Amino acid sequence: MNFARRRAALLERLDRPLVLFAGGLVSRNYPANVFPFRADSSFLYFFERPEPGSAALFDPDGGAVTLFLPERTVADALWHGEVESFEAAKARHQVDGVMNVEALESHVAMLAKGRQVDALAVADRKTTQRARDLTGEELDFDDPTKVGRGEVLDAIAAMRLAKSSEELAEMRRLVATTKEAHVLAMRHSRPGVSEQLLTGHVEGSFSRGGCVPAYNTICSVRGEVLHTNAHENTLQVGDIVLLDAGPEASLSGYCNDVTRCWPVGGPFTPEGRDVYELVLKSQLAAIAAVKPGARFRDLHLLASRVLAEGLVAMGLLSGSPDALVESGAHAMFFPHGLGHQLGLDVHDLETFGDRIHYPNGRTRSAQFGTQYLRMDMDLQPGMTFTIEPGLYFVPAILRSKEFREKFKGQVHFDQAERFLSMNGGRGFGGIRIEDDILCTETGAEVLTAAIPKARAEVESIAGSA
Ligand code: GLY
Ligand code: MN
Ligand code: MN
Repeated sequence: MNFARRRAALLERLDRPLVLFAGGLVSRNYPANVFPFRADSSFLYFFERPEPGSAALFDPDGGAVTLFLPERTVADALWHGEVESFEAAKARHQVDGVMNVEALESHVAMLAKGRQVDALAVADRKTTQRARDLTGEELDFDDPTKVGRGEVLDAIAAMRLAKSSEELAEMRRLVATTKEAHVLAMRHSRPGVSEQLLTGHVEGSFSRGGCVPAYNTICSVRGEVLHTNAHENTLQVGDIVLLDAGPEASLSGYCNDVTRCWPVGGPFTPEGRDVYELVLKSQLAAIAAVKPGARFRDLHLLASRVLAEGLVAMGLLSGSPDALVESGAHAMFFPHGLGHQLGLDVHDLETFGDRIHYPNGRTRSAQFGTQYLRMDMDLQPGMTFTIEPGLYFVPAILRSKEFREKFKGQVHFDQAERFLSMNGGRGFGGIRIEDDILCTETGAEVLTAAIPKARAEVESIAGSA
């Protein structure tokens, strides 16, 4: 990656000084026992292998970048190993200066010469407090409207949204690791095997590939719990495993985000086959509609209509696909959005909020289901995002008094009840199919196409170890 060029491009877009923070080490239980360090993505975008606790001042007046690093102490060298000197860091990063971060505030005050300074909130709360004190702004990492000044978010997002060939190469490089993880989990899925064992295969593959999980691995026969992180079940004949897992490259921070589903102890049941084929059909329809200028919400609605049509054929819904999607009846089975941006963050730039993801005055739907659509952008060449429709049989939704009343003419809750009680009373669960997509000049490239997805293929791999 050409980090120096990225920094120069950011300087061009700034109208006043900006301090970016990498974020510091965060403790797990006692101060010396810390979580592995992961720099804030907007810092990682501009600096290779950043140090915990570091910061950088971008000054558009003169076009200088000053890097602030923690002091080098004998104790740190003893416990954690020696790190490069300030001089070596200056040469490696090709910055204009390196200074001690302990004196960040006084150095920045001197360099800013009275100008208002911008900064961004980061996940590490202590560092965000420092950013608040430095800028006098009410920065808050948990509130997308307070992560930073809008113009700064726009400037960084404009750079991070369209991926360069180097970034795409990194995301493509990870696919071999993602494939190994998913195929290993498929192969070991036999009755009596635990979700935890499959998770071990998945995360072992990530580690062997020089990666960490990009997010908590979702590996469960309870696929209807969208973001479950429990791995406590034992696989039984008739279960469907849902694996939503992707690696993040330990050095660069880029990631994959992929979901596959497969049956345990034999091929899919007739219902499993119908649901799988329908989810796949809707995913392929949405992928086929990807092109520059396509509006992501239209892709979401297209996938929703394909699902609604199939659910009518299965006797779960009644009505025209348009009417079902208009009323939100489809969301009784497809209760989330079609996808999200992907890059350094699994939900790339999500901390910057709907300012980025719902541009041009667009706003989120208030309707259950579509309200979770994480972006409504016009696609551009170079954007990378996921397409991940799914169908789920969620007891809390399908037995909700409110929804049963609201959708009584459109949803056949008695038929849904059949799915909730099948599989020995454990219920059908859920099926999601997720790939990572690049919008090209002419359409879509499925970056994760190498990971088996055709029904017959996943059926033949499942349990084959
Ligand atoms: N892995 C979380 C998601 O698919 O959004
Ligand atoms: Mn995703
Ligand atoms: Mn996912």
